[in-house]
Amino acid sequence: MISGPGGKGRSTLIRLDKLLTHFGCGTRRQVIDAVRRGRAQVNGKVCCDPAAKVDPEQDEIRFDGTVQSYQKHRYLMMNKPAGVITAVSDRRETVLDLLPESERRGLFPVGRLDRDTEGLLILTTDGQLCHALMSPRRHVEKVYLAGVSGTLAPDAPELFAAGLTLRDGTACRPALLEPAGERDGLALWRITLREGKYHQVKRMVAAVGGHVETLRRVAVGPLELPPGLEPGCSRALTGEELGRLFRQIGTENAPDSHETARKGP
Ligand code: URA
Repeated sequence: MISGPGGKGRSTLIRLDKLLTHFGCGTRRQVIDAVRRGRAQVNGKVCCDPAAKVDPEQDEIRFDGTVQSYQKHRYLMMNKPAGVITAVSDRRETVLDLLPESERRGLFPVGRLDRDTEGLLILTTDGQLCHALMSPRRHVEKVYLAGVSGTLAPDAPELFAAGLTLRDGTACRPALLEPAGERDGLALWRITLREGKYHQVKRMVAAVGGHVETLRRVAVGPLELPPGLEPGCSRALTGEELGRLFRQIGTENAPDSHETARKGP
């Protein structure tokens, strides 16, 4: 850490508050406040100066005890197109096949979308994040837009809210079912789940009299599918997005780092 002016020619020096904001530890204002309160450490020593210059490549930066650094894990979001399998390998085309070969190593999808489902899919090398997002104990919300044919029971939203029992006896946790207009002759329903059972949306909709014709996941926890991300494209999560994700699932699983990159199909 360099506290005074000069910096002995180290080219990667950056203000501590700026770096911690970049790592998703909070807004700039929150980080400044947190640093002043002694929540940041540089090379093992508490640093209360938000303007202190640090070298993220060489200094060990901790925030609330957790090391913050670059280049340990990768985190991508993909707009999964229909027609590809959510798996690392398969004889059919997988979501990993949509990435350049050099980028695939170690990545796996967080959870599973059906072959005909589109939308937001997170891919990562971070098993801890994957576990946290999938754990039913965390209640991470997944939001879907379903194009539905047939006529739903008039009390379908209440049945969803009460915790539906599927035709095979599987009990579902309370979920949200909200009308979202109409597209291509299908009623659109916005469905928010806090768990991820096999074909869950399709089976829940079937249990109240409808048939899911199209399905798109539009949000996972605090992350929404960005309008500009075309089907088949992916991009790295930004530091701010990662910060939101890890704040939601609890800081005990916060990653040490992230890496940025951009991809097309
Ligand atoms: N529910 C489904 O039925 N399919 C999906 O792909 C995701 C949720």
